[in-house]
Amino acid sequence: MKFSGDAIEPQTMEEADDAGSNPSANAHIGDIIDAMVSRRGLLAGLSAVSAVAVAGIDVAAQSADSAAADPTPNFGFKEIAAGIDERIHAPEGYDADVLIRWGDKLHTASPEFTPGKLTGAAQAQQFGYNNDFLGFVPLDGSSQRGLLVANHEYVSRELMFSGVRQDDVRRAGRVTREMVEVEMMSHGGSVVEIALTNGKWGVVADSRFNRRITAETEMEIAGPAAGHPSMKTKADPARRRVRGMINNCAGGMTPWGTWLTCEENINLYFWGTANGHPAENHLKRYNIPSNWANWAEFHDRFDVAKEPNESNRFGWIVEIDPLDPASMPVKRTALGRFKHEGAGNVVNGDGRFVVYSGDDERFEYVYKFVSDGRVDMQNRAANRDLLDKGTLYVARFDKDGTGQWLPLVHGVGPLTTANGFNNQGDVLIRARSAGDALGATRMDRPEDIEVNQRTGKAYVMLTNNDRRTADLIDAANPRAVNRYGHILEIIPESGDHSLSRFTWDILVRCGDPRLPAVGATFNSATTTNGWFGMPDNAFADADGRLWIATDGNSQRTTGRADGIWAIETEGKSRGTAKHFFRVPVGAEMCGPVMTPDMTTMFVAVQHPGEGGGSTFDYPSTRWPDFLAGVPPRPSVVAIKRRDGGKIGS
Ligand code: FEO
Ligand code: CA
Ligand code: CA
Ligand code: CA
Repeated sequence: MKFSGDAIEPQTMEEADDAGSNPSANAHIGDIIDAMVSRRGLLAGLSAVSAVAVAGIDVAAQSADSAAADPTPNFGFKEIAAGIDERIHAPEGYDADVLIRWGDKLHTASPEFTPGKLTGAAQAQQFGYNNDFLGFVPLDGSSQRGLLVANHEYVSRELMFSGVRQDDVRRAGRVTREMVEVEMMSHGGSVVEIALTNGKWGVVADSRFNRRITAETEMEIAGPAAGHPSMKTKADPARRRVRGMINNCAGGMTPWGTWLTCEENINLYFWGTANGHPAENHLKRYNIPSNWANWAEFHDRFDVAKEPNESNRFGWIVEIDPLDPASMPVKRTALGRFKHEGAGNVVNGDGRFVVYSGDDERFEYVYKFVSDGRVDMQNRAANRDLLDKGTLYVARFDKDGTGQWLPLVHGVGPLTTANGFNNQGDVLIRARSAGDALGATRMDRPEDIEVNQRTGKAYVMLTNNDRRTADLIDAANPRAVNRYGHILEIIPESGDHSLSRFTWDILVRCGDPRLPAVGATFNSATTTNGWFGMPDNAFADADGRLWIATDGNSQRTTGRADGIWAIETEGKSRGTAKHFFRVPVGAEMCGPVMTPDMTTMFVAVQHPGEGGGSTFDYPSTRWPDFLAGVPPRPSVVAIKRRDGGKIGS
């Protein structure tokens, strides 16, 4: 979600995030940089697989012995020009075609898209709003036919409805029951079957797989927090069923073809005040309520006074089986409750499943989950409840370039009844507080985490944090007023993702490298088009090449639109970025994913035309339709090479 603040409603979404809610004093180390000079020596005894520069001082530095090894091929496409206008741009020799737009029908019988006359009933049968994460599930192993899954994170209501502002939720009667129904039905996710015909991707009408999941879809609550007293509501005395998923931002696909979709800024949907609430401190630790949506006017469950526990039932990773259209989505509580951005994952060497996830808010933490059981690639059904048993960890990044995964296990360390954690459900529902108690490192807004399956390294997008002051910098978050973010590399010890120990490095500090005050560290081979700010989503392709999608570049921040940048991670070109794709004004770039044969990249263009006073009636762009009366439409774009070759080569 975009929180860059160039919208006309600075008191709404922006405030919800800006406030921050982490009061802990973890890792406020002002002298860390000074202490880092000895880091290289300390690392000598560890099994780091890459060159490790002195993070925070010179990310381009490479040790001589590893510079020769370059396990990933370099990018070969012709870079596009950075800039900003009303359209999308792909490199020379590539086609970028809109595949599906907000409001497109999922079935032949679905209602047509009628801008200005939306209904919830119609939205529930159409592609939802603000597509973020994308996943591709091949059908029969094909790269020409498969299921596209898409998250629908939130709505830009000033672009959705005529005469409405984002913050009209606070003006009685302005955002009506009918509008709220539209909002709720355009949240969630979509599954659509798509096929490549005569070189163009299209949606397969009436596929039995086509499905909408909304803020009202019934879901199961599974794992250690299922049945917990803090999950009890009037509608669900058994504490095992919840209606809907909300603010699904990024996610991940499992190797057995299920979709992990992440509930992020769930605070936005809850209404009322935490002051005087029985769970006041707990709610405040999650910025609940934030009063950004007025769903509570018509649905009591979103009012924290009327349904005190409902918010505990959101903020989870949801697992959905796109191959079984009748399956019920499952909230996997073993993975913890926070503002999950994504669910980058890897099958560990011993077969256990590991999921990395960032908590996207200023000063929040990085987590990983390690399953108890092992992935069975021969028997898909055997993995069904794999994510219900395992250990959740939170990361501490130490100044010597090593790190520790600290277990969020009831009874271990400070997570005891004496400290208010009565059971594992408490630890998971209040994961942020557990992380505080464990001394986790407060990060610069952890967004997506992506595991490079070739090298085993995990990349953490730290999008920005303009609230970090000089006295709060640490080795892993080395810049005060970090406007442009950085990318952090986690290298598991011995390549084993289940171990507690790791090393880490900073791949790049983002921003304009021509401005010394910014302190950006792109490789000097990077052109003026090649640098970027605000990394958000990431995709490591089958060749181990890393693609970054950004959120927050704009005329005001970096003078360029958001988009995709390819970045080298190994060898002497490490830290060199190249601009691959860019979105229209007001949009953020999400979701990059490729077909297994790497000949198509799907990207999600989220909230085109948002911000800067742009409205339904006077939008800054009408991409992609450019028709009078039709507002900009969040859409998925398929990018292919005209010669059919591998993307980016
Ligand atoms: Fe929805 Fe963290 O972006
Ligand atoms: Ca995001
Ligand atoms: Ca973001
Ligand atoms: Ca990703």
